[in-house]
Formats: sequence, C-alpha cells, structure tokens
Amino acid sequence: MYKTFIRPILFKIQPETIHHVIVKFMKVVSVIPGLSYLLKQFYTISSPKLEREFLGIKFANPVGFAAGFDKDAEIYNPFSLFGFSFIEIGTVTPKAQSGNPKPRMFRLKSDSALINRMGFNNKGVLNAVKNINKLPSKIILGGNIGKNTKTTNEDAVNDYKYAFTHLYDCVDYFVVNVSCPNVSNLTKLQDKDSLDKIINELIKIRAAKDIRKPILLKISPDLNNNQLNDIISLYTDSLIDGVVATNTSVSRDSLLESKKRLTEIGNGGLSGSPISKRSTEVIRYLSENTGGKMPIIGVGGINSVEDAIEKLDAGATLLQVYTGFIYNGPGFVKKINKAILKRM
Ligand SMILES: Cc1cc2nc3c(=O)[nH]c(=O)nc-3n(C[C@H](O)[C@H](O)[C@H](O)COP(=O)(O)O)c2cc1C
Repeated sequence: MYKTFIRPILFKIQPETIHHVIVKFMKVVSVIPGLSYLLKQFYTISSPKLEREFLGIKFANPVGFAAGFDKDAEIYNPFSLFGFSFIEIGTVTPKAQSGNPKPRMFRLKSDSALINRMGFNNKGVLNAVKNINKLPSKIILGGNIGKNTKTTNEDAVNDYKYAFTHLYDCVDYFVVNVSCPNVSNLTKLQDKDSLDKIINELIKIRAAKDIRKPILLKISPDLNNNQLNDIISLYTDSLIDGVVATNTSVSRDSLLESKKRLTEIGNGGLSGSPISKRSTEVIRYLSENTGGKMPIIGVGGINSVEDAIEKLDAGATLLQVYTGFIYNGPGFVKKINKAILKRM
C-alpha cells in the first residue's frame, strides 16, 4: 500500500518539503482523539522477547529512529506510534543555525538512497530543552550533540559542553556527533586527541551529576581500520560507553544513479542501501576486536529485515533506521520486530 500508492505521491514533492509536511502532520495526529490509539494498535508490536537492556536502559524493542529527523525534539511522541522504542533527537548545537543553502536533500530512487548536506540546521539546544520539558517523552530519548558551524575546531569542546550540560536532564543517553560530513572540517574531530579532549570534559560534567547517562560516539563509515582502532581505545580507556555506527558516507561507489546526476547533486552524505555493507563491516570490526563487549547501536542502510538481522549478527544490540523508513513506510519497524521475534 505505502510503496504502491503513498510513496509515489510523496516522492513527487521535494524531499525537504515533504519532511516539513510530515512533521506538521504528526503534530496534528497527536492531538486527534483516538487516532494515536489506532496507529499504535496497527503499527506497534510488543513482546517481552523484544525487550533489550542496553547500557542500563530498558528498551521495549531494538529499533529506534536515527538522528536528523526530529532535530528539534518536536515529534518523538507521535513517532513512537510507528513502533520505535527510542528516538535520537538532534543534532542540536548551542545556537540555532539555518544549515547549508537549499536544495540540500536529494533522493536516489534507483539506489534506495538519499544524499543530504543539511549542515546541522536546528533551532538550538535551549529550544529542544523547552520542547522536551513541555512534552514528557513516552519513549527513550537520545540526545545527539554537535558544534555550531561557525565555531572553530579548537573551540568545539565548549559547544559540546554547552549542549551536554543543558540537555543533561532531558534525555536518557548522549551521542557525540563528530562524523557528519556536511559541516566543514567536523570529521577532523574524529582524531583521537580531539576526541579525548571533548569527551574528557563531558565526563567531568557527568561526574558531578546524580545520574550517570551513557555517552556514545557516532562514527563515520569512512573510517579506516587504524581509525577504528582509535575508537576501540576510547572504549577500552572508558572514555566512551559505546558507539553509534554509522553516520552517512562521502563515498559514491557502486551507485546506480548516473554520474551526471551525482555531479549535479554535489557534496553530501550518502545514506540508505548503498552504505549498508560498509556500516555492517564497521560494526563487525568493532565487535570482533572488543570480544563482543562494545555496546553498539547499528545504523546505516537498513532497507530490509535482512539488513537489520545482519547488523544484529555483526554485533549491534540496538538498531536505528532513517532512509529505510522513508523508502519502506510506517510499517517498517513492525516488520523488522516481527522478523526478530520469528528468528528467536
Ligand atoms: C536528511 C538526513 C539528515 C541527517 N541528520 C543527521 C544529524 O543531524 N545528526 C546525525 O548524527 N545524523 C544525521 N543523519 C544520519 C542518520 O542519523 C544515519 O546515521 C544515516 O542516515 C545512516 O542511516 P540510514 O541509511 O538508515 O539513513 C541524517 C541523515 C539524513 C538522511
């Protein structure tokens, strides 16, 4: 139904426009009496067998919505109706910023993929805090934090500290995002010294809090094995509690889309089916080289139940989807959870 009737209509409209329409629609859905109940009944599947304990937090099932869709923490409750057990809000930065010039999101239909260069467009961390305080969350919330584009890499640590401090009481876990390819030079912060500095400061802030909230690192699928070994050291040195693997990729390998269109589109992070294999390889590498101990949220190109199962088999405990949800529609999470149940 979604792929045959609804998706062709949605895909006639600019991707970013349809994104805003969906956000508005979901806000309306949440206030129509009875509709939330019906959606929940239809799209949600519950079973004790789906429950997962991850870093001391209990998740109703392993599937969450990846960062970047609910950047300003506006629609996490209505989105829980589609069966997600958690949503990662953000990336939020200290100050509001408009991101890169439009157009900045493109569909590659033949590849079941997207390219985006949004550039951390968001209304700022204080706005997210206000929204969360207004709308107590019905599901687990992750807080994905970043730096403002105008902040230099030398000063980045202050941006991460600011976002972390203000969001601390509102979310259940944190994700430090230094892997977005759409904010100039951000990915340079993935080197070990920069990460040591940023995360040590966040740990100091956390030490003064009553509740210890996990800090995960979101990493790029474009890291080589030496860089992945650095990430493993961060984990074994107890700086990070785990990773979200992976973000979007700068690669354009093996795409069906024409070279001409790819050139017209230009820079941006590739998501969806084409990055699935690499992101699963990253998960497997991290898991195998930590004896299966590293807590991993697996994300990147989950476009079928098989992709989801592969990531779990590679060592992820939880999963996130973004592009696959756009291509497969609102029944996608239930389908994945059903397949997980069936396999048990
Ligand atoms: C339009 C768009 C915006 C995104 N924005 C963010 C973001 O703000 N922060 C972040 O950590 N990841 C962001 N991502 C990356 C996703 O969270 C996810 O890691 C990536 O898309 C791979 O998963 P997928 O193939 O299921 O989409 C964004 C992805 C897309 C497609």
